[in-house]
Amino acid sequence: MRFFFLLFTAMLLVNCKKESKPTTPQAFDVNKIVEDRFRESYRPQYHFTPPEKWMNDPNGLLFHNGTYHLFYQYYPEDIVWGPMHWGHAISTDLIRWEHKPIALYPDELGLIFSGSAVMDTANTSGLGSLENPPMVAIFTYHLMEGEKAGRKDFQTQGIAYSLDEGDTWTKYKGNPVIGNKDIKDFRDPKVMWHQPSELWILTLVAGDHAKMYSSPNLTDWTHLSDFGKDKGAHGGVWECPDLFPLTIEGTDETKWVLLISINPGAPNGGSGTQYFVGEFDGERFTTTQEETKWLDYGTDNYAGVTYNGLSDSERIFIGWMSNWNYARDTPTENWRSAMTLPRKLTLKKNKQGYYLNNFPINTINNYTELITDVIDQSNHTYTNDSFNQHRIDFTIDGDLDSFKVDFSNELDEHLLIGFNATKNQFYIDRRESGIVDFEPRFAEKSHVAPAILDSGTDVSLSLFMDASSIEMFVNGGSVVLTDQIFPTSPYTEMSIQGKASIKDISISEVSRIWEGQ
Ligand code: FRU
Repeated sequence: MRFFFLLFTAMLLVNCKKESKPTTPQAFDVNKIVEDRFRESYRPQYHFTPPEKWMNDPNGLLFHNGTYHLFYQYYPEDIVWGPMHWGHAISTDLIRWEHKPIALYPDELGLIFSGSAVMDTANTSGLGSLENPPMVAIFTYHLMEGEKAGRKDFQTQGIAYSLDEGDTWTKYKGNPVIGNKDIKDFRDPKVMWHQPSELWILTLVAGDHAKMYSSPNLTDWTHLSDFGKDKGAHGGVWECPDLFPLTIEGTDETKWVLLISINPGAPNGGSGTQYFVGEFDGERFTTTQEETKWLDYGTDNYAGVTYNGLSDSERIFIGWMSNWNYARDTPTENWRSAMTLPRKLTLKKNKQGYYLNNFPINTINNYTELITDVIDQSNHTYTNDSFNQHRIDFTIDGDLDSFKVDFSNELDEHLLIGFNATKNQFYIDRRESGIVDFEPRFAEKSHVAPAILDSGTDVSLSLFMDASSIEMFVNGGSVVLTDQIFPTSPYTEMSIQGKASIKDISISEVSRIWEGQ
């Protein structure tokens, strides 16, 4: 323990020297990485993963100048959580990524926890110029010494800026920009430009509620309001908020959506993301929503937030595909954790009220190829060398009762996906899916999601399976389950069972995104 404390202090001292200076780019040898790194067992082939070591939340999602930036919580020394940095990657289409040097290092104010990024196009902060406006990252400083000393003021909000498209960063000299006297959990600022008030609006979380702030310049912040002490799920601490407007599909009506991740307290255990649909008047978020709504019922979609820099009709979300219950125990060796596929969020209304639909962005279609070597043997049983890099879409016509998809391999491992008519629930059951015993909660139970179905219509299912994940979307994303899986060998058989007839099945191979980089 003492050794780690000394090591940590030494690291902080080393990192202090980096304060207020652009960080030194450390180029990854991408060719070497392709050879050595991206083919290990369980390495996702079309989901984002860091080149090596530990990753958690997506941070600073920003589209600028034709480039999507993805920063992420990163510990470059180990495959378990440690002193947090911001890793960085860029993409022109959100599917194929280029790894960049680490963007933000810890300094004497603390580790760099989750946050967001904006383009300060009008140079309101004065940190750049109108000709070369700054990209500004807003994040939480977590001061380990403060936490260890039992203080409550160890999380504050800081900013850093880049004048070269996110390649190098300088910490703001006046940090922290939002101080903290006594709120133990005080973190994860998400900033957006609010046109009606011509101010920046920042939402962060403080344990059991969200706090909103405004600023004309990203450096001076005024507290506006609080939301949520008496709303939604409170089985754990609130984390990673995101507030944005969304127009209800097919109407002119715009609502505001507030995403709140919560850990623990998710419907199937551990970490999950709830959301509220309501109004935001520039100061205060309000909602009449009574019930708790969840973005994804799988256990592996956490801390997700949406892109800044896109038009309001294009709300794209990325989540961390893991769960704090077992994130540090999963059976990978050189790296840990992946992101979900980027998903488009749409707001819909049905008899149960407003709900948030999420489905992978269309760009994924550029990476899929319909395969012809799958033979329909009998009774909807399909075989393939590996279903673990595939997308499968089909429609279920008629009685959903006892509908089930069974993916299996020669070791008799089974991943089950289906519908329970008695309970009106979809499920993913990974209890016999492969390696499951690294942490008891990983395979504790089947994961269930209440069905939101319009009666009398066919039900469509889209499954995206990668080396260590399955993402399941019912009816284009009205019900979603995302789960990690670790089959000992790839699934080679897919059998679709039940009373209903299966229509329009298409099975596509998804390309490997690391090829040829
Ligand atoms: C969410 C979270 C955030 C925090 C970060 C630390 O997974 O706990 O609240 O900023 O991870 O890595």
